[in-house]
Amino acid sequence: MQASTLAALKELALQCARSAGELSLKRMKEPFTVEYKTSASDLVTAVDKEVEKHVVGMILQRFPDHGILGEERTFAEDPAKYETLWVIDPIDGTTNFVHQQINFSVSIAVYHKGEGLVGAVYDPSRDELFYAVKGEGAYLNDRPLRLDRTVSLEEALLCTSVFWNKRAEQMGIDLIVKKLAGKVRGMRLLGSAALEMAYVAAGRLDGYVSLSLNAWDFGAGRIIVEEAGGRVTTMTGTPLPYDQKSSVMACNPTFYEELQHYLKSENMDVPS
Ligand code: IPD
Ligand code: CA
Ligand code: CA
Repeated sequence: MQASTLAALKELALQCARSAGELSLKRMKEPFTVEYKTSASDLVTAVDKEVEKHVVGMILQRFPDHGILGEERTFAEDPAKYETLWVIDPIDGTTNFVHQQINFSVSIAVYHKGEGLVGAVYDPSRDELFYAVKGEGAYLNDRPLRLDRTVSLEEALLCTSVFWNKRAEQMGIDLIVKKLAGKVRGMRLLGSAALEMAYVAAGRLDGYVSLSLNAWDFGAGRIIVEEAGGRVTTMTGTPLPYDQKSSVMACNPTFYEELQHYLKSENMDVPS
């Protein structure tokens, strides 16, 4: 890929993230409808759909031959047909958007033939833009992000989202997280996977583990963590897909092996 094309992708991804974030902040102050997707713990608002349409419009105006995999499915074509694929979540943390009005984000990633090129996660309520370009490092606004601290598993502050609904309990995931919580310094749960991964890149959290996330939840965060020097795989240690559901383990590289070893040694039956 030419440097000028990569620069154009970066510029548009950052514009989309900021513009989508500003739109969601504006709409948050007005009345909006909230619907249940699969249950009372799985919400979607009219704002999610409007913001996604807005982003899809921005992308197609500049790159009409690109595909888009978005949570709200507002892109009419089959995303699998495209070499360059934008993977987007217009509002990651919709429950927080509705209840807290903070701790939600926009997640925008660009993949080419399955390789992550650009990732952007924008938190509009704090005006924080986390982003990375393949081979060019990760940034928070204009500050470079680099995971150069050595952290052991017992010193690590981890984050998870596996408790997010009743299904997690049915799968036995709560037990895995309970054991892990006893091993590390502490466990947090913010409610926006994209933001949680961006926080790992920024060193605010040392690691993030989750099961059964969608591609749009981790597509951008993964590129940002990797470019900050972190490691990102599935929870069983295999490479992360870019267009399918997966478990996710994203962390400071200094305790990645220790964490993998711990999960295996405890014979925890971690689904991939
Ligand atoms: C959700 C958030 C949450 C995670 C869920 C996701 P949404 O995304 O990222 O942290 O636990 O699995 O579905 O629905 O708010 O876009
Ligand atoms: Ca999401
Ligand atoms: Ca979403």
